[in-house]
Amino acid sequence: MTTVIDGKQVAASVIEAVKTASQTLEAQAGVKTGLAVVIVGNDPASHTYVSNKSRMAKECGFTSIQHTLPEDTRQEELAALVEALNADETIHGILVQLPLPKHLDSDAIIQTILPEKDVDGLHVVNAGKLATGDLSGGLISCTPAGAMVFVRRTHGADLSGLNAVVIGRSNLFGKPMSALLLAANATVTTAHSRTKDLPAIARTADILVAAVGRPQMVKADWVKPGATVIDVGINRIAAPERGEGRTRLVGDVAFDECAEVAEVITPVPGGVGPMTIAMLMANTVIAAYRRAGRTPPTF
Ligand code: GUN
Repeated sequence: MTTVIDGKQVAASVIEAVKTASQTLEAQAGVKTGLAVVIVGNDPASHTYVSNKSRMAKECGFTSIQHTLPEDTRQEELAALVEALNADETIHGILVQLPLPKHLDSDAIIQTILPEKDVDGLHVVNAGKLATGDLSGGLISCTPAGAMVFVRRTHGADLSGLNAVVIGRSNLFGKPMSALLLAANATVTTAHSRTKDLPAIARTADILVAAVGRPQMVKADWVKPGATVIDVGINRIAAPERGEGRTRLVGDVAFDECAEVAEVITPVPGGVGPMTIAMLMANTVIAAYRRAGRTPPTF
């Protein structure tokens, strides 16, 4: 029987642990965890994501502040806001929602965030710590951290002897995901659009992670029988069967056919997606514990 991972349920368990951790920190050290989320412009999808993040932070018992800046915000204005949040002792985590409007330099802004408040794990210091195998000193990008929770719950913490293939090499996901799998002793291949015979490489994977942004690209004959398949794609496609002009969300994996071959698989929606916000909350409470000089919980 194939196991379909319930991302909402796993995310809820992480959120419960975050709530307990933030209550403990407040009771024992008098520190209330604080998250600041910054959004620039009017992109409706980004506004939905950001309000979900702000709402979840409140639910976790955090101080939750949101800065909504106009589309025509200048680089120096945004940088000045980040500097003010860096200096704010009540704020432990800063997230600048991406993508920023085109006239702004996202990378320069991300590198302005203090690494210890970079709950997105995108600062070069955090990326570098992960790349050198220092998993306990930095902050890890939320989506790969969430995908690793599934991997650990399926295979345990030690992946010795297992082959992992990550399809995708982005800084936001593919590279940190490969680094996390490697740190857990898996034998890791990072495949991408220039890889020769991708299906054959994918078939070597005991753990196959797809993050390419191409709807249902991974087919059943790409999957090794008994593999764990983690789908990080979120693609909106036309769904004429639901009525004219209707759409639906699908992943990078052709779910129905791959579920017949895999032993464990994540659905889209309801797989990795809910984990991203949960790990953002986890990173924020970890940052607050460190700032208070206390050993943070692990998730
Ligand atoms: N936009 C889409 N995903 C993310 C994310 O994980 N972090 C930020 N900052 N922006 C995003």
